[in-house]
Amino acid sequence: MRRNIVEIPEALKTAAKEAFNKAYAPYSNFHVGAAALTKQGNIVQGCNVENASYGLTVCAERNCIGQAVINGEQHFQMIVIYTEQDKLTPPCGACRQVIAEFFEQSAPVIALNHKNEQQVWSVEQLLPDAFTPKDLLDK
Ligand code: THU
Repeated sequence: MRRNIVEIPEALKTAAKEAFNKAYAPYSNFHVGAAALTKQGNIVQGCNVENASYGLTVCAERNCIGQAVINGEQHFQMIVIYTEQDKLTPPCGACRQVIAEFFEQSAPVIALNHKNEQQVWSVEQLLPDAFTPKDLLDK
């Protein structure tokens, strides 16, 4: 299923942009902000946090999900990934795996930019046949 347009709550857009402004990305200069709407209706945020040991960088999406978990929330409605790139930014492979752990397969993952352009994928489109907790059940 391809969803092309999703109504993004304004507060979620604002939160993603706010997170973008807090990104710590001195090496790539590629700032990313993420904001997710939890099933309880709360908004959590994350930005990319780089490191002088480059491989330790953590993406905005994974920091965003981590913030939800530390706040006791593990179920989400949607996630917005905000950059100020003309080409909309899709989540990297590692983030797709982490998103698949916590979001329903049909949940929208939305790339948004400063021109208010958006591209929407379902979790399943981004990572078909994902390895998820159910695959650990020995049944
Ligand atoms: N980045 C993210 O935060 N999310 C993604 O899905 C793609 C990549 C960050 C990691 C790194 O700090 C910078 O963007 C360039 O790769």
